[in-house]
Amino acid sequence: MNTPLAVIALPGAQALAERLAQETGARLLGLESRRFPDGECYLRVLDEVAGCSVIVAGQLSPPDAGALALMFLADTLRELGARRVGLVLPYLPYMRQDARFHPGEAVTSVSFARWLSGSVDWLATVDPHLHRHKTLGEIYRIPAQVVPSAPAVAQWVKVHVPRPVIVGPDEESLQWVEDVAARVGCPHAVLRKRRLGDHEVQIELPPLDRLAGRTPVLLDDIISSGRTLAVALRELRGAGHLPGVCIGVHGLFADDARALLQDAGAAQVVTCNTLPADGPQIDLLGDVARVAFDLAGGRDK
Ligand code: R5P
Repeated sequence: MNTPLAVIALPGAQALAERLAQETGARLLGLESRRFPDGECYLRVLDEVAGCSVIVAGQLSPPDAGALALMFLADTLRELGARRVGLVLPYLPYMRQDARFHPGEAVTSVSFARWLSGSVDWLATVDPHLHRHKTLGEIYRIPAQVVPSAPAVAQWVKVHVPRPVIVGPDEESLQWVEDVAARVGCPHAVLRKRRLGDHEVQIELPPLDRLAGRTPVLLDDIISSGRTLAVALRELRGAGHLPGVCIGVHGLFADDARALLQDAGAAQVVTCNTLPADGPQIDLLGDVARVAFDLAGGRDK
């Protein structure tokens, strides 16, 4: 195959697209986008895409408006003759509603996956929220590859935190907490969380005496309202532990989340660069670009 690679940014993801272009050698395409006065989305692809394998770069947070633009863009790229259209979405939204917890609820993880599988040819993402779905393959019908954050997070902890203990706020976090702790060569612990509402969580600490004197590194996949990590920070402080460092793979930071973490005594709040955020970020985009390059057929030339 000799298919040229190109990359195009969804609105809001220009920096991501530029990084992918730089790392993969793909040609960066232009997109004009705006809203009509009534709120509808206008898109226009400004460069030739016929015969190309196109990587769409997206950062969907908040997800809904961007998702519709993604659908329009993927359709347009195909109509203009793109051979393949793949998607780099470092933060994959709509993964947490992965069951019908109450009668009548939408299981949005499944619907979103079904829709995306019909819209693009492949997907590359970073540690999606896999809990009741064990793999993306259970719900995605396209090649969907996950870039793990653990190697880079572990490296960051090794360099920045002396005598750490990796702490997961709930049982769902055990998968990445165990992995990061093993790479750092330090202990780990998992707390017990009960979510009572969007903005209310309760967290119980198991006995953590053996971790005394270590700096808790609270690690979660998503920081959304910030309540989970804020409550965990307070509980740990209340039990006499050192101020915790918070690491979120995906920093959504809804509303006052960042302030909440500061008020709860976070020594530092760090995210991976799957979404733009203020504050220090752990770089995963080199790894993401390598996966995208392969999925887009960059090595088939
Ligand atoms: C839970 O399912 C996730 O792993 C995170 O713990 C959760 O999304 C964090 O949300 P919040 O910041 O709103 O507590």
